[in-house]
Amino acid sequence: MPLDFARDRPFDVRAEVLDNVSLSADYNVLALAAPEVAAAASPGQFVMIKASRGHDPLLRRPFSVFEVLRDASGAIAGLSLLNKRIGPSTGLVYAAKRGDHVDCLGPLGRPFSIVDRPSGAWMVAGGVGLAPFAALAETLRNRGVASTLFYGARSAGELFYLQFFRDLGVELVLTTEDGSAGERGRIVTPLERRLAARPDDAPVMVYACGPEGMLAATAKTAARFRVPCQVSVERIMGCGLGGCYSCVVPMRTDEGRFHHVRSCLTGPVLPGNEIVWD
Ligand SMILES: Cc1cc2nc3c(=O)[nH]c(=O)nc-3n(C[C@H](O)[C@H](O)[C@H](O)COP(=O)(O)OP(=O)(O)OC[C@H]3O[C@@H](n4cnc5c(N)ncnc54)[C@H](O)[C@@H]3O)c2cc1C
Ligand code: FES
Repeated sequence: MPLDFARDRPFDVRAEVLDNVSLSADYNVLALAAPEVAAAASPGQFVMIKASRGHDPLLRRPFSVFEVLRDASGAIAGLSLLNKRIGPSTGLVYAAKRGDHVDCLGPLGRPFSIVDRPSGAWMVAGGVGLAPFAALAETLRNRGVASTLFYGARSAGELFYLQFFRDLGVELVLTTEDGSAGERGRIVTPLERRLAARPDDAPVMVYACGPEGMLAATAKTAARFRVPCQVSVERIMGCGLGGCYSCVVPMRTDEGRFHHVRSCLTGPVLPGNEIVWD
């Protein structure tokens, strides 16, 4: 369901940077004091961030809500972002210092629909596509849903937060392109093996986030095994609010009708089998 602005108004806050943990030369986790945004967020939703003080870069950029942060008393204190530095805005998020402030608008978009037992949950992440799965894994754990994370990266040094997921009881299946951790190759290969070995009467939901090619392969593989699949698409987003149409995704309905949706409103989480991938 698209965001209902009358009911689900996002918050626009100037959030203090609580912490910035560097994970590698390109990845970091930025903790922000935005408790009202964090408290309203569901797994899979995103925030629009402006880390510059002036007009360069002019536009905000979308980031998944990574973790909901709590203080010692258990009260929600903010949220974190898993950031991969690829350009000006992600560079500023990488360089932000404790005590700096960034503009944070959210939560935005349609979240994952969460399964209940006895269904299992298989999360499929490529690179920074890990971002929506920390919050999802926590929610699944709270519901007692057995979860597996299929997580692929270029090398061992780009596999992050493994102990975090283990502590939540998530089974890990890892691949790296250079073979430095887990199986060498792409993450869709072990996913396909698991789907083929799965008993017909064991329901499972596949959740995927990562590069477009990985999403397409995951959605097509899930469809081949008649398993439902929700994908979180990462389109370029100019506004995050439905106004600029920079984020459209081609979709096909069950009746075969072709149309476009704005992924910031109808997504970013969309049914994988309805997206026109090629
Ligand atoms: C819903 C959503 C959630 C996201 N969550 C995260 C997250 O949690 N962590 C994170 O690090 N990134 C996330 N991204 C991607 C992030 O928004 C982009 O990397 C960012 O906008 C790049 O901004 P920039 O100014 O650093 O670089 P830019 O100069 O804007 O971009 C650098 C290059 O990357 C390309 N590019 C920009 N945005 C995208 C995109 N979305 N997909 C593919 N190519 C792109 C540009 O065309 C350009 O070639 C998310 C994107 C979406 C749509
Ligand atoms: S990002 Fe502007 S319409 Fe979706």
